Amino acid sequence: MTSLAPAPSTTDAVRVTGIGKRFPGVIANHDISFTIPAGTIHAIVGENGAGKSTLMKILYGVQKPDEGSIEVQGEKVSFSTPSDAIARGIGMVFQHFQLADNLTVLENVVLGAEKLHGIGGDARAKIEEISSQYGFGLDPDELVETLGVGERQRVEILKVLYRGARIVILDEPTAVLVPQEVDALFDNLRELKAEGHTLIFISHKLDEVLKIADDITVIRRGTTVDTVKPADVTSRKLAELMVGSELPSPSTEESTVTDRVELEVRGLEVVDAAGRPVLSDIDLTIHRGEVLGIAGVEGNGQTELVEAIVGMLHPSAGTMRLGDQDISSWHTRKRRENGIGFIPEDRHRHGLLLEAPLWENRILGHQTRPPSVKGGWLNRRGAREDTERIISQYDVRTPGPDTTAGALSGGNQQKFIVGREMSSEPVLLIASHPTRGVDVGAQAQIWDHIREARRNGLAVLLISADLDELIGLSDTIEVILRGRLVGTFDPQTVTPQDLGSAMTGAGEEK
Ligand SMILES: Nc1ncnc2c1ncn2[C@@H]1O[C@H](COP(=O)(O)OP(=O)(O)OP(=O)(O)O)[C@@H](O)[C@H]1O
Ligand SMILES: [Mg+2]
Repeated sequence: MTSLAPAPSTTDAVRVTGIGKRFPGVIANHDISFTIPAGTIHAIVGENGAGKSTLMKILYGVQKPDEGSIEVQGEKVSFSTPSDAIARGIGMVFQHFQLADNLTVLENVVLGAEKLHGIGGDARAKIEEISSQYGFGLDPDELVETLGVGERQRVEILKVLYRGARIVILDEPTAVLVPQEVDALFDNLRELKAEGHTLIFISHKLDEVLKIADDITVIRRGTTVDTVKPADVTSRKLAELMVGSELPSPSTEESTVTDRVELEVRGLEVVDAAGRPVLSDIDLTIHRGEVLGIAGVEGNGQTELVEAIVGMLHPSAGTMRLGDQDISSWHTRKRRENGIGFIPEDRHRHGLLLEAPLWENRILGHQTRPPSVKGGWLNRRGAREDTERIISQYDVRTPGPDTTAGALSGGNQQKFIVGREMSSEPVLLIASHPTRGVDVGAQAQIWDHIREARRNGLAVLLISADLDELIGLSDTIEVILRGRLVGTFDPQTVTPQDLGSAMTGAGEEK
């Protein structure tokens, strides 16, 4: 029987058998096998470096497998490029959005797919049709730069649907979203599923996975270990499947906040190129041994706050003190040399040289201090040894210090940066999303490292989209909205929902 109706069919959307993929010194995938029934939501979970992104890139034609076979809708396929995958109805939404800010929604969607519906009225009609069908609420003429994170993600999904995808891959789509946006995304995904689409998504947030997935495939060290139903597992059980052993329980911590002020910011103001304020009247104080968490929807001034404290941009007003020194006029290097550690939000732009080996990346940002220098010269040996120490202490999964940073999986790049910044024994750590893209086990390890340093007096400014992390690590939480600090919360009593409301200004009209 043939049917054009989008009702769930009995055929499998994707069937993967014996997939293998090697990189120099690394077996990224071996003997990966699983099946995704059409019209279902399929989650892929696994530790950092387990091979999830590699597998998705193979499914989307970005990388070629060394062995194994892929069937799409019952037919054997072999992809050399993403265009081959798109032709088979597969689309992919990458974690790092690939949109042009200075173009409109319509222009972004149509770019590279002009042949489908042109660039005029037909294209617009198609975009409006998709947007309203799935409740995306996107205006084709809006500039992408004015859109929030959740909306940008919907543009990415729209782009993929516009190209006719029936199977949509999303690599860590929820990492950048606040809880309300995650709910909205999940509504969209359910809607897509109801229309017969097949969704494949990767996430490190296991409670979300349990909420949305029909089936969950667990990958451990490059191979599939099981496919389970959410009803049959807990997030703890899932985590244990991922690691292959039992997880330690998280410990609760008492306060280590002292009365010695480490960072004091007064009246900070930053304006953009057009002279509009992006940060106004920011006052904040962080004591030794204190973690100050900043909660906010991305794009509300967090980036500017961090860059102003690190010295990457010049405030139009305000003062900053580190310990008993006024650092307002210091440049970045001097601030770093005086003990400001920095975990940047964009690890590719500010954190790593992807083409360079890890040991050179160890030196990056720490060029003037041991173990990177000795008697005024670069100390390669010292840097290499310290890189090996970071690799082992922070459990960075890699063949060794000579591997390039770009060859590490996303989560392992992140672990390396955290290790490097903690190694310089900072007095103040500016941590932007320190565990973004990091698996639950490694996340707990990073939290332990931060807590230990905090016990020894480290002051931390923590910016995170992960509200559980903010609540679990912070001694105080401030909410930032449209460039202002709009509320102070006690992590002992606040809920993620409370924070979510404050962050979106939902409580404002009260
Ligand atoms: N282009 C590459 N060159 C060399 N090694 C690579 C390359 N891409 C991935 N790898 C290696 O393959 C392994 C799997 O990486 P992959 O990115 O698939 O992991 P992942 O499961 O997506 O992890 P994460 O959760 O951290 O994103 C890792 O050891 C990684 O270092
Ligand atoms: Mg990945």
